[in-house]
Amino acid sequence: MEGRQRRLAGKAALITGAASGIGRAAVALFHAEGAKVAASDRNAAGLAELKGVADLVLAHDVTDEARWREVVDSVVAAFGRLDILVNSAGIALKGNIETATLEDFRRTEAVNVEGTFLGCREAIRVMKGAGGGSIVNLSSVAGIVGDAQSAAYCASKGAVRLLTKSAALHCGRAGYNIRLNSVHPSFADTPMVQELIASSKNPERVREGLMRAAPLGRLGRPEEVANAILYLASDESSFTTGIELMVDGGLTAQ
Ligand SMILES: NC(=O)c1ccc[n+]([C@@H]2O[C@H](COP(=O)([O-])OP(=O)(O)OC[C@H]3O[C@@H](n4cnc5c(N)ncnc54)[C@H](O)[C@@H]3O)[C@@H](O)[C@H]2O)c1
Repeated sequence: MEGRQRRLAGKAALITGAASGIGRAAVALFHAEGAKVAASDRNAAGLAELKGVADLVLAHDVTDEARWREVVDSVVAAFGRLDILVNSAGIALKGNIETATLEDFRRTEAVNVEGTFLGCREAIRVMKGAGGGSIVNLSSVAGIVGDAQSAAYCASKGAVRLLTKSAALHCGRAGYNIRLNSVHPSFADTPMVQELIASSKNPERVREGLMRAAPLGRLGRPEEVANAILYLASDESSFTTGIELMVDGGLTAQ
């Protein structure tokens, strides 16, 4: 890092879903780029492994409205500011429109959509009077194109995509200097996708199918998604708001 300005120097960030996969990769990258990083997750054991890279760890279920306010206030109390929020907490339950249960559907929307909604709202509450900020929401290629076996997940990620645009327009027009953008990975090699593969009848075939789905012919790496999040979180994207950034090996270009 010597000899160059670190890309998040002086910034304070909160990353949800930080105990695993993409969130965890973002914690490490943000730390390396000079940010103060607060890591939140409902998985306490996973959070404990972030010692040395996260400056603050917070037990946090993103479906809990009251806890969201406490978490954001704790970050501001610890760092004096909140410049960046990354909403990475998410779940993916399998089920098509005939097999998905209402309970699974509601659980998916509660975590993926309501969690992201609450996060945006709470971050905007503190960012708007403090000069602005950047919010990055994890949607998915499943928020752009359908997947027959992921009815609830597609519904949730489509909602995240347009929630992000709505909030981006609101914050832009209000003059808050708060930018919101969504990131859309395809299959990245994280515990979420590893569990999906392992729980299938023929894991080897499923893995190969997921790799072939992307024209680049492989799974993504969590670090590659984190790099896209870093760009949107940093001032390098200062004129970019309301976009959907694909990190999908070309999947949606077809
Ligand atoms: N991995 C992929 O291929 C992929 C593709 C597209 C989109 N995404 C999205 O990226 C995000 C991160 O995915 P990942 O692959 O790192 O998944 P992951 O399962 O590895 O990590 C998700 C994290 O979210 C946490 N979490 C789940 N529910 C929570 C809740 N209610 N409150 C707080 N934390 C909660 C989990 O404990 C876990 O640490 C998700 O929103 C996911 O939908 C992932």
